[in-house]
Amino acid sequence: MAGKVVLVVGGGGREHALCMELNRSPHVAELHCSPGNAGTLHLATNHSISATDIDGLLNLAKSIGADLVVAGPEAPLCASLADRLEQVGIPCFGPVAKLANLEGSKLHAKQVMRAANVPTAAFHVLSSSSDIDAALDDFSGNPWVVKRDVLAGGKGVVVTQNRQEALEFIQSSIESDGQVLLEDFLPGEEASMLVIMDGSGYVCLPASQDHKRAYDGDEGPNTGGMGAYCPAPVVTDAIRQTTIETIIEPMHRYLLSGETPYRGVLYVGLMIPESGEPNVVEFNVRFGDPECQITLPLVKTDVFEVLEAAALDRLSELDVEFHNLFATTVVLAAEGYPQSPVKGRLIHGTEQKVLQSSGVGAWVNHAGTSYDEQGRLISTGGRVLSCSAAAPTLEASVKLAYELIESIELEGSHYRSDIAFRAL
Ligand code: AMP
Ligand code: GLY
Repeated sequence: MAGKVVLVVGGGGREHALCMELNRSPHVAELHCSPGNAGTLHLATNHSISATDIDGLLNLAKSIGADLVVAGPEAPLCASLADRLEQVGIPCFGPVAKLANLEGSKLHAKQVMRAANVPTAAFHVLSSSSDIDAALDDFSGNPWVVKRDVLAGGKGVVVTQNRQEALEFIQSSIESDGQVLLEDFLPGEEASMLVIMDGSGYVCLPASQDHKRAYDGDEGPNTGGMGAYCPAPVVTDAIRQTTIETIIEPMHRYLLSGETPYRGVLYVGLMIPESGEPNVVEFNVRFGDPECQITLPLVKTDVFEVLEAAALDRLSELDVEFHNLFATTVVLAAEGYPQSPVKGRLIHGTEQKVLQSSGVGAWVNHAGTSYDEQGRLISTGGRVLSCSAAAPTLEASVKLAYELIESIELEGSHYRSDIAFRAL
């Protein structure tokens, strides 16, 4: 097989993790990333086209002769990147816009789940003509969960015990978006299941757990994710089986029913109550960030082969294998993250800390990083990088990840010191 040209779209920690895996594959002759970061620069040719410039990305894919485009974030997929690539015959890992709407619209996702009989929280759709007080009464006794029906980069959900706060968020959301969702509160523990899917089948990756709050003990504001570990023991074999039967199978059937099958990864956000019967909290149409950073390294099969197969509806021909290891990642966030991250500061201590071959070890996943004109590594985002490690036990992977993060210097930065502790 001639060497393949692959374009990864995006520029965060997830995309660095994708580039690390693709770079390891003997099939990949040329790796490109747009826009990428300081980490991807060592593995791929970075391009300056943003992940939302669909025309620019299409031209780039054509000009480099891409054999496969791997979409990192959801925004280009919701803006029809996969549809446009399909028109010019370039395989894409990531679904067409109609299916990406599972993440683009939370209301659409709820309607799909209702139609497919997939367990999820009860909900009201509220607009200016709704009786908001009656709806709040309906779900009283628990915190209120209010969700905007737009792509809001993790800032569209409020979970609060304060009725006034819930009411105000409902009103402001209706004002800006026309409608909003009010959901019944689901108690339990959260976990993420990433499922690679295509028209021929699906492969469930080991379940992981993210830490969305900024500070230790799940305190502070919601973030994109402050750290994660995989596999998460909360997803026992029995819960995994129930998830497959009640959620993955019906969703896969639904996602095959249209003109174009779902080709990519479905991120299933689960809430697991004591009963062990999981509910879906959310769907994303992409790898989680930072879940990707600790899930992909546990895939023993060549990741290029898996992603390419999914883009070509050949997943069922593969026997995907996994390493019998645990992986943990801890995010180093900039001062002021998530409210107003300070950017442009020097980062020290990341040199050489890149795992060269898959297996046991520790490595840095770059996210909001770049090189300045003098070639110095600087921070350019809220989540600057994450320190990841894989080891035969969860404890050992946590220890390695923390040893690595303690050796990195970035003025004012912060990280959670309790990643994975719930499972230990
Ligand atoms: P989402 O963007 O839908 O994943 O929501 C963000 C976060 O809000 C989730 O990760 C949960 O921690 C929380 N959440 C969302 N929906 C619910 C729910 N129905 N019950 C309890 N917590 C929820
Ligand atoms: N880490 C959560 C997400 O990627 O949505």
